[in-house]
Amino acid sequence: MNPWKKWFGSKEPLENTVPELDTDNIPNHVAVIMDGNGRWAQKRGLPRVAGHHSGMKNVKKITMAANEIGVKVLTLYAFSTENWKRPREEVDYLMKLPLEFFPKEIDELIQNNVQIRMTGWEEGLPEYTLKAVRDAIELTRNNTGLILNFALNYGSRKEMLLGMKKMMEDIGQGRLSMNDVDDQAFSRYLLTSDLPDPDLMIRTSGELRISNFMLWQLAYSELWFTDAFWPEFTENHFFEAIKEYQRRARRYGGL
Ligand code: FPP
Repeated sequence: MNPWKKWFGSKEPLENTVPELDTDNIPNHVAVIMDGNGRWAQKRGLPRVAGHHSGMKNVKKITMAANEIGVKVLTLYAFSTENWKRPREEVDYLMKLPLEFFPKEIDELIQNNVQIRMTGWEEGLPEYTLKAVRDAIELTRNNTGLILNFALNYGSRKEMLLGMKKMMEDIGQGRLSMNDVDDQAFSRYLLTSDLPDPDLMIRTSGELRISNFMLWQLAYSELWFTDAFWPEFTENHFFEAIKEYQRRARRYGGL
C-alpha cells in the first residue's frame, strides 16, 4: 500500500499527508537522470521508443509531486549531447516528444504555476522541437512556482569548456580581472547561471554514473540511486529520495 496515497491531490497540509517529510528541509533543486526507458520497454517486449513515451508520461507526475512539496527547481536530463549517437529513428522520436508533451500538459502546468525552462543548446535541435519548447517557455514565463527545467541537448564538459573560453575572453578584454575568478565568478559562465546548484541528484535504473551531467553544479549535491527504471519511478520513490536526503548531514567539506 502506498503510504502517501492520501497525499495526492489532497488539500490537507503537507505534514498531515506526507508525515515523514520534514517540510522545513525540502531540497530547493532536485536534478534527475531519467534512465532506463529502453530497458523498461525491452523487458516488456516493446520497442525502445515505447519506453521513452512512457517516460514522458511520468514527467508530469513527478513534476506535480515536486511542486506539491515545495521543491523550487526540478531539472530533468531529457537529451544529452552524446545522445545524438543513437539510431536516427530513436533520436527523431525523442525530438518529437516535446510536441506531444507541451500541448497536452501546458494548461495543467500553467494552473499549477509551473515555469518551463531549458538548459542546453538550441543549435542542432529541429525547428519543431525548438518551437514547442520555446512556446512553453513563453507561456509560463511569468509563473512563480516550480521551475521545470529540461536539460535538452546538454553536456557538462562542453558547457564548462565554452564557459571557460568566454571567461578567458572577458579576462583578455579586461572585462574580468584574473583576481576575481572564483567559484561564483565561473558559475556565471555556465548555462545554469541563474539557478541554484542541485541539492539532490536522483538517477534511476541502477546505473551509478553521472554521465556528463552538471559536473560542476553537483559538487556538493547528495546523490540517490534507485534500481527502478524511469517509467516505473513513482511519487513514492521521489519521496523516499527526499526522506533519505533529509537523513543526511551536509557538511560541504567541514565537520
Ligand atoms: C535514458 O534512458 C532516457 C533518455 C535518453 C530520454 C529521456 C527522456 C524522457 C523521459 C522524455 C522527456 C520528455 C520531454 C517532454 C522532453 P535510456 O533510453 O538510455 O534507457 P536504457 O539505458 O535502458 O537504454
